Amino acid sequence: MERNLKELISQMTLEEKAGMCSGLDFWYLKNVDRLGIPSVMVSDGPHGLRKQDDKGDHLGINDSIKAVCFPPACLSACSFDRKLMTELGETIGKEAQATDVSIVLGPAVNIKRSPLCGRNFEYYSEDPYLAGETAAAFIDGVQSQHVGTSIKHFAANNQEFNRMSNSSEADERTLREIYFPAFETAVKKSQPYTVMCSYNRINGTYASENPWLLTDVLRDEWGFEGYVMSDWGAVNERVPALKAGLELEMPSSGGVNDQEIIKAVQDGTLDEAVLDRAVERILNISFKWVDNRKEQPFTMEADHDFARHTAEQSMVLLKNEDVLPLKAEEKVAFIGGFAKKPRFQGGGSSHINSFRVTSALDTAAGMEEISGNITYAEGFPADQDVYDEALAAEAVEAARKADKAVIFAGLPDSFESEGYDRTHMRLPECQNRLIAEIIKAQPETIIVLHNGSPVEMPWLSDVKGLLEAYLGGQAVGEAVVNILYGKVNPSGKLAETIPYKLSDNPSYLNFGNGEKTVYHEGVFVGYRYYDTKEMPVAFPFGYGLSYTTFEYGNLKLDKTELTDQDTLTVSVDVTNTGAAAGKEIVQLYVRDNSGACIRPDKELKGYEKVSLEPGETKTVTMTLNHRSFAWYNTDLKDWYAASGKYEILIGASSRDIRLSETVEMHSSVKPPLKLHLNTTLGELLSDDRTREYGEYLTNKMSSFFHSSSEEASEAITDEMNNAMVASMPIRNVISFGICTKEEVLDGLNKITLK
Ligand code: BGC
Repeated sequence: MERNLKELISQMTLEEKAGMCSGLDFWYLKNVDRLGIPSVMVSDGPHGLRKQDDKGDHLGINDSIKAVCFPPACLSACSFDRKLMTELGETIGKEAQATDVSIVLGPAVNIKRSPLCGRNFEYYSEDPYLAGETAAAFIDGVQSQHVGTSIKHFAANNQEFNRMSNSSEADERTLREIYFPAFETAVKKSQPYTVMCSYNRINGTYASENPWLLTDVLRDEWGFEGYVMSDWGAVNERVPALKAGLELEMPSSGGVNDQEIIKAVQDGTLDEAVLDRAVERILNISFKWVDNRKEQPFTMEADHDFARHTAEQSMVLLKNEDVLPLKAEEKVAFIGGFAKKPRFQGGGSSHINSFRVTSALDTAAGMEEISGNITYAEGFPADQDVYDEALAAEAVEAARKADKAVIFAGLPDSFESEGYDRTHMRLPECQNRLIAEIIKAQPETIIVLHNGSPVEMPWLSDVKGLLEAYLGGQAVGEAVVNILYGKVNPSGKLAETIPYKLSDNPSYLNFGNGEKTVYHEGVFVGYRYYDTKEMPVAFPFGYGLSYTTFEYGNLKLDKTELTDQDTLTVSVDVTNTGAAAGKEIVQLYVRDNSGACIRPDKELKGYEKVSLEPGETKTVTMTLNHRSFAWYNTDLKDWYAASGKYEILIGASSRDIRLSETVEMHSSVKPPLKLHLNTTLGELLSDDRTREYGEYLTNKMSSFFHSSSEEASEAITDEMNNAMVASMPIRNVISFGICTKEEVLDGLNKITLK
């Protein structure tokens, strides 16, 4: 249905227009009945619906309607499966359509800068490429149901400490390469109906009133067509926010900020056209939903099954020394409060009132072939850090009597949540203590972890098996049991590195605290740091085991040289060399050997998940473009891949590179020449445009320092001389009387004019 929004808006009063730019209440936008503008609802998000019918809040305090809790982002991202993410989006979109929700408040795509961020469970990855691809696939799914999404929290919202006032201080290259691309990819590929700006400031300016962020980058560069809404309570000054590109303030400001807008239009400090444009953007999206309503039957039962399937496709098997899968006839002790009461979601605005939760214990009890062989001992409570001698003794005894022990460990709710950060990276002490006791009694011990963000694992080398279940959604118990008993072959891989200890993390010295957080580590986030530093880690990015094995071969590139206009097609054969059907996640990393600037050792630029029967081989094809090779050059104000050599690395994780090939890039772009008297001779030598003149000056300078005495040339060899001269600025050629200033300026001028 075509609507003439401009005409509609021309009939609205100033008060109605200002009112349209903030919520009616916690979840609804305002209606204008006389003009047929309905009040539409938005709702959290992102891993299921948190639709509050009664009392609203944004912290997950009051009840919402019963719904299905799908695996949160920390787990679903480990599927590395775009198709699955689209199906997840479709499923949530259908539920939203059926329950009158016009926008689902998600996905949340902030980068996991530190394992301490209380909200990591809601975020996808430490890698912006993976986060962007995953988000775009999810958005496609939700929006295929004509329900909007709100990709959040834009931008650089990587901690909860002082989340509503802290300033994230990062240089532009870091923002462009690490903290923006997930949003950029999603906007360019999938046009989310809305973007939610974050609470924090960025380099001093609130995200909600940052014109560079909300207009220059988001709209003018990336082509965003929807509207920007604020996070709940993120507006600082309403009129500057509107001017900067924040159309909708959420929730309601009780009319106070609407009055600010009205006043500004009346006193001429706000152009009414800016208000009209904001209203048009909001109405455009609301009507997109209104005009595409459809009957949408869904059953929570079917969606529960899909939640299980998503968890099964995402959980990551981290260690298996011939201990898994479990056999039905083995006597197994299930230990730990999480076996009975699993932790399957995080706290805060994404908290879902799950209509059913399955525990591992219930699931096993319902499976005739195994139920008789399972014993349970609580060992420790799931919700607090209390070591109970009696519970522990009982658990050790159960482990001793069984063939194998499975300990269901993890973080209690209070250890991680929206609204505050973790203070350390450890499991509760009572759990580590009990695990140590059990290992002594039962060498065949397996740990299942329920956590939204990595934990330190002091017992790692002493356990035989480890399954990272993250937060598994409401069907967590079924997914875990199906993987443990080999009904499902695990196929998730880590969307983040698990460091040995918190202090290894690159943000360790600069996380939280104070009014601003300086991102000193720059682009070296996650594996970009650990791998470049060659630092040992517990488990690398992209790592995950299967009950089968895979071999890689036949890496082919469609060209060995390319320009910045070209694409590069890469193909590789993957063979299932084991006895079970399984899925492998093939990863493509690019390494820049051009030497043009300091970059991470490698960066993920492609991945595919492929399903293989035993003995089967499939060819996986991935395509790279200029951006896959580029870094953000602030002189050019653009992405830049310098001429030179790049390696294409194909791996099973960031530390398990199986095949590689080299390509040569011929760039047509030249960064601006920065020629002045303090340019060094080395800088002149490193650029073809200035090399000849650099050689001329270097020779002159070297001869000036060259001594004919044998002793002197032994003390300073020619090589040493050249290295020292390379760091000298051009002005020294003048001050040492080697050339006149006129000669030098003339030489530089000729280069600039070329
Ligand atoms: C969160 C958002 C959420 C909103 C509404 C805020 O506290 O940061 O992610 O969508 O509340 O519940």
